[in-house]
Amino acid sequence: MRIVYVSAVNEKCRVSGKRLIEVIDFGEQPLGNGFLKQEQFGEEYFFNMRVGFCEESGLLQLFDQPSPEAMFHEEYAFFSSTSTEMSKHFKSWAKSVATSSDTKNPLVIEIGCNDGIFLENFVNTNIRTIGIEPSENVANIAKSKGVMVENSFMNIPLAEALLSEHGSADYITAANVICHIPNILELAKCIDILLSDNGKFIFEEPYLGDIIQKCAYDQIYDEHVFLFSCISVKNLFNKLDLELIDAQPQVTHGGSMRYTIGRKGFNDVSDNAKKILENEYSMGLNKIESMLRLSENIKQSKNKLVEILENLKSGGSQVCGYAATSKSTTILNYCNIGPDLIQCIYDTTPLKQGKFSPGMHIPITDWKEFNLNMPDYTFLFAWNHLKEIMAKERAYTSQGRKWITHIPTVQIS
Ligand code: TYD
Repeated sequence: MRIVYVSAVNEKCRVSGKRLIEVIDFGEQPLGNGFLKQEQFGEEYFFNMRVGFCEESGLLQLFDQPSPEAMFHEEYAFFSSTSTEMSKHFKSWAKSVATSSDTKNPLVIEIGCNDGIFLENFVNTNIRTIGIEPSENVANIAKSKGVMVENSFMNIPLAEALLSEHGSADYITAANVICHIPNILELAKCIDILLSDNGKFIFEEPYLGDIIQKCAYDQIYDEHVFLFSCISVKNLFNKLDLELIDAQPQVTHGGSMRYTIGRKGFNDVSDNAKKILENEYSMGLNKIESMLRLSENIKQSKNKLVEILENLKSGGSQVCGYAATSKSTTILNYCNIGPDLIQCIYDTTPLKQGKFSPGMHIPITDWKEFNLNMPDYTFLFAWNHLKEIMAKERAYTSQGRKWITHIPTVQIS
């Protein structure tokens, strides 16, 4: 029996309060990171994943989302440090924060510090850091690296407590976290409370412009309640004493944007931010028509993928998956792909190995067995780590085995 949880169904934009227009209904979806054991199949969490858009705020968002406690807990399955490229990315970001700081004893607060992949770079420097992390297991890893962590969700009482204990922050950072926070106006208020006059709030998130161009609909899952653009970020922070002052595209997560927010009147808006905003208006990122086109492309992508997998199955080929990403949950459940079409998914995360994928229950197998098995075809779920994985899996490719991807179009290569 399948239990579908209904948390308070939200019909309104979380920034403007206007009624959302439906863009696509993905149907019943489990938690993106809800990898589970066989004995847990009967108690799995499902929710109805509908995506809506608001032209006033320009924000693409989920109508409804599971409770934060269901998603972020002591067994949270995503560890930032599983990718070496991501470790390098955070190291270089930390360096740029350290070198641009002109305060004597600067304070950096990271919202959602995960296993400390960013803040560990400041340990044993003159920069004070505090990580805010609700998932206890990853928070403990950060602590073991010497990072000071508040094991909590970010909220106004915590922001006020941090301000009175440590003073205002020179930098507040977040990576792939702000899109997780449904009460986004409260989050913006926390920034307003904590940021010093010259302080910067810098955060990066999967970018709506890339999602549309690549039809990367797998970026939409329970945790990603928002899919941001410069337009929507600008509109959000304009509601407070804050503004978007810079935007820098990033290659991480298959195309992200790094947004910098400052206090109104304390900074110039960069040419880059102005240029990207102009480009977004010309792409129609504030228009429902563009979102409905995305919806059409998603439906076509699904049909093509299912057709390819069905053909491979009837031809007797062995198809497996590579990397049990949270993103894969949307593809598998939306396209109704189970172990009959994808036998297993190879993954490096010990916490996921021996478990099953959320909803469709495909077995997750230790990545070390990938090269022993050498499946005929492998669906690359971690397409955002393409470079790193292709370098690692040369032996597989050189034997003439094939990769399947759905980005930017469904194809075998
Ligand atoms: P990622 O695309 O970073 O995350 P998300 O879960 O947010 O979609 O992928 C992380 C997952 O991919 C994690 O389970 C580890 C796995 N992975 C591998 O198995 N091998 C690899 O080489 C890489 C880079 C990731």
